[in-house]
Amino acid sequence: MTILITGGAGYIGSITAAKLIQSGYKVIILDNLEKGHQETLDQIKQVAGDFEFIKVDLRDKEKLELALGEVDFDAVIHFAAYIEVGRSVKEPKEFMENNFGGAKNLIEVIVKKGVKKFLFSSTAAVYGHPEELPIPETAKLKPINPYGESKVRVEKLLEKYADFGKLDSIRLRYFNPAGSLNGLIGEKHEPETHLIPLILKAGKGERDKLYIFGNDYETKDGTPIRDYIHIMDLVEAHIFALKHLEKISGTDVFNVGTGTGYTVKEVFETVKEVTRLDVPYEIVERREGDSKELVADPSKIEAVLGWKAQYNLRDIIQSAWEFEKTQ
Ligand code: UFG
Repeated sequence: MTILITGGAGYIGSITAAKLIQSGYKVIILDNLEKGHQETLDQIKQVAGDFEFIKVDLRDKEKLELALGEVDFDAVIHFAAYIEVGRSVKEPKEFMENNFGGAKNLIEVIVKKGVKKFLFSSTAAVYGHPEELPIPETAKLKPINPYGESKVRVEKLLEKYADFGKLDSIRLRYFNPAGSLNGLIGEKHEPETHLIPLILKAGKGERDKLYIFGNDYETKDGTPIRDYIHIMDLVEAHIFALKHLEKISGTDVFNVGTGTGYTVKEVFETVKEVTRLDVPYEIVERREGDSKELVADPSKIEAVLGWKAQYNLRDIIQSAWEFEKTQ
C-alpha cells in the first residue's frame, strides 16, 4: 500500500513516515520545505529507508495537480499546516489560506485522481474552551483561535465529501504531542513555541529562561492544563487509524490523547526532575488564544481502534531530552 504524506519533513509527519516505511508501507512525502527540513528527510532515510519526495506547495493547485499526476497512491495522510497558535491570532489570513486553502486543493486534486482515503491531522484546539472535561469527540467545536478554526473548516469539508460518497476520512484530534523517535528525530520548529522543548532549551542555556504564560487560570496552581502525548503513541494511532480507514466508508473522528492532564508548572517540575537541569523562569501575561484546560476523553479510540497510550509524562520528557541533547 502506498501512502502520500504531506508535511512529511515536519515533526509528526517525518516520524509517521519513518514508522510507516519500517512497517512495510511505500511512502511518498510531499512538503514545500517552508517549515520542514531537508535534514529531517535525510534522517528518515537513515532510520527507516527510502521514499519518494515531491517538493510542492499545496497552495499552488496547478503545480500540485501536475506533481500528483505523476504518482500513484492509495491513501493520504495530511499533516502539512501552520501550527503556531500565537501567530495564527496575528496572521489569520495566512493560516486560512495555508491550512484550509491547501487542504481544499489537495482534496480536490486527489478526489479527481480517484483516491478514496484521507487521514487528517486535526487538533484539540477545535474545542476552544470546552464545556465538558475530559473532552469527548461529541463536544461542540468552538475554536478560539484561527489555527483551530482552520482545522474545523477542513473537518467540515471532509464531512461534506463523505456525505456525497466522494472521500472516506478519519480525523484525528491530537492533544499535545512531544518526545522523539529514539532521540533521533524530534521537535525542531522555527520558531519553537511548544512548552517541553522550550523548557529544555532554557535548561540548556540556549534561551535565557522559560516564560510561563499566566498563573491566574482557575486550575490547581493557576497554570493551564494539557494532555501531553508521546509522539510514538501518536504515530501508532495513525497506523491503527489507517487500518480502520481501509474498512470504513464515510468519515469518523477520534481524540488522540492519554486522558490525563498536567499543568504547565507540573510539566516544568517534571522536566527539572528528569533532566536535573536548573531552569530559570518568569511568569508573564497569558498568551492570547490559550484555553485553560484541554484533556482528551480517549475512550472512543480505545474502544473502536484498540489503541491506548503507552507512555507517561516522564517518558515523554526523557525522550524529548534525548533529542534536545543532540541539537
Ligand atoms: N506555554 C508557556 N510558555 C511557553 C510555551 C507554552 O507557558 O513558552 C504554555 C501554554 O500557555 C500552554 C501550554 O504551555 O498552556 C502548552 O502550550 P504549547 O504551545 O506547547 O501547546 P498548545 O497547548 O498551545 O497546543 C496547540 C494546540 C495543539 C497543537 C499545537 C500546535 O492545542 O493541538 O498548538 O502548535 F498541536
